[in-house]
Amino acid sequence: MARRPMMAANWKMNKLIEEARDYVEQLLPRIEGARGVDVAIFAPFTCLPEVVRRTQDAPVVAGAQNFYHEDSGAFTGEVSAPMLRDAGAVTVIVGHSERREIFGETDETVAHKAARAVSAGLLPVVCVGETKEERDAGSMWDKVSGQVRAVFEQLDAGQIGGEALVFAYEPIWAIGTGETATPEDAQDAIGRIRALLGELGGEGFAGEVRILYGGSIKPGNVDDIMAQEDVDGGLVGGASLEAESFAELVNAAAKHG
Ligand code: 13P
Repeated sequence: MARRPMMAANWKMNKLIEEARDYVEQLLPRIEGARGVDVAIFAPFTCLPEVVRRTQDAPVVAGAQNFYHEDSGAFTGEVSAPMLRDAGAVTVIVGHSERREIFGETDETVAHKAARAVSAGLLPVVCVGETKEERDAGSMWDKVSGQVRAVFEQLDAGQIGGEALVFAYEPIWAIGTGETATPEDAQDAIGRIRALLGELGGEGFAGEVRILYGGSIKPGNVDDIMAQEDVDGGLVGGASLEAESFAELVNAAAKHG
């Protein structure tokens, strides 16, 4: 099953509105030739409307980096899925390791968010991944498979297709460290995630789910990562902050479409 590659910029807590505008202006002409790849920008809430506006006629979608699974109510400081839709987001990152590690999100809250995103018509990019300690202790797969199973339990896979969600395997030790997983390690983890999705939801479902790699992707390593059979794209932090380097990543992913 041919899955459409996806290259996604996670700006994290970076960029003011004017910087977001300049970035999109610089990005669009650089990726004009990149057909056959889905491009997403996950912007801070404050820049989201600007990114939506500036990408309206472009093959780029705007997304948020988080939300809360209730739709409205007394949840000071939170933003809901309908609010994101209202602001023009079509996709959202769920359970990034920084949300899990710094803000205490559990497998259960992440799973609720993933399910709510799907039912609200947002494409969730659900992040999973292990710490260095877990990898060294040989418990990488316990951690990652537990995270995937928790999400799957909240989804009605019989009712949705595999194209309704995306996973991102982001080993925590590779995020922002310059230390990338080897292409073989990325393939190994992502291949195992796909096999697990096959067990849980059937081969057809698993064959449709896109699974991205994230962790120190840059123009110098993107080709080897994208060449792996089960790797469908990238979720990029640092190298997505400059339009020029993100454009290189988008153009590289397009070659694998
Ligand atoms: P870096 O690309 O900066 O390692 O960040 C990866 C990431 O966390 C994307 O969500």
